[in-house]
Amino acid sequence: MNKDVFSIAIDGPSGAGKSTIAKETAKRLGIIYVDTGAMYRAMGLKTIRAGINADDVESVCSILDGTDVTIEFRDGVQHVLLDNEDVSDVIRTQEVSNAASKVSAIPQVREKMVQLQRKIAEDKTVVMDGRDIGTNVLPGARYKFFVTASPEQRTSRRYRELKQNGKLNGMTFNELLIEMIQRDERDSKRECNPLKKAADAILIDTTYMNIEQATEALLNKVAD
Ligand code: DC
Repeated sequence: MNKDVFSIAIDGPSGAGKSTIAKETAKRLGIIYVDTGAMYRAMGLKTIRAGINADDVESVCSILDGTDVTIEFRDGVQHVLLDNEDVSDVIRTQEVSNAASKVSAIPQVREKMVQLQRKIAEDKTVVMDGRDIGTNVLPGARYKFFVTASPEQRTSRRYRELKQNGKLNGMTFNELLIEMIQRDERDSKRECNPLKKAADAILIDTTYMNIEQATEALLNKVAD
């Protein structure tokens, strides 16, 4: 293990600003950003395409071995490949979010993705975001953060993002809020490596902070 290699773990619920903060942190520190949610999203997309219910553990497990999820970095930007197809863009829909949340509760799926995540961080300095990075994937990460915000604030950010990208598909704010709360419940109540703040993670609540302020708060800790 190279001593100069270190990791920054960022966990938290969706819409808290994790990925924006992590991307900016990566840019400022000249390190790699690893978005672990994209891997579960790729698996979620696979179930949709295969016509499998993402809740159906047996069926999901039956296609797991034949599914190839890989990560490539081009110009420092992560691309997620599903069976050799770059799906980085098509995984950003609400339908895929929900399927990802369901498949991510399956221990066999997690095992496969966690192995890949640990391998990436083995020889590279990374900022990795997800739900269980500080608690399970990289428990020895040098810096750990838990980024959160109120469900309303997170929904409002997600609503804006989906609208901007033309991926709202007619959903109302309230429908999105309900889905967000359901997803939080599923992610934090599942048995296998749930969304949870690591005891030694620093809490950053972005409800009343903009992303620049949150990024500064994080970078100040890393510079300490
Ligand atoms: O961060 P995201 O919204 O792209 O993640 C999609 C889903 O994947 C989310 O519902 C929870 C799950 N996930 C997880 O269980 N563990 C991770 N490390 C990252 C994401």
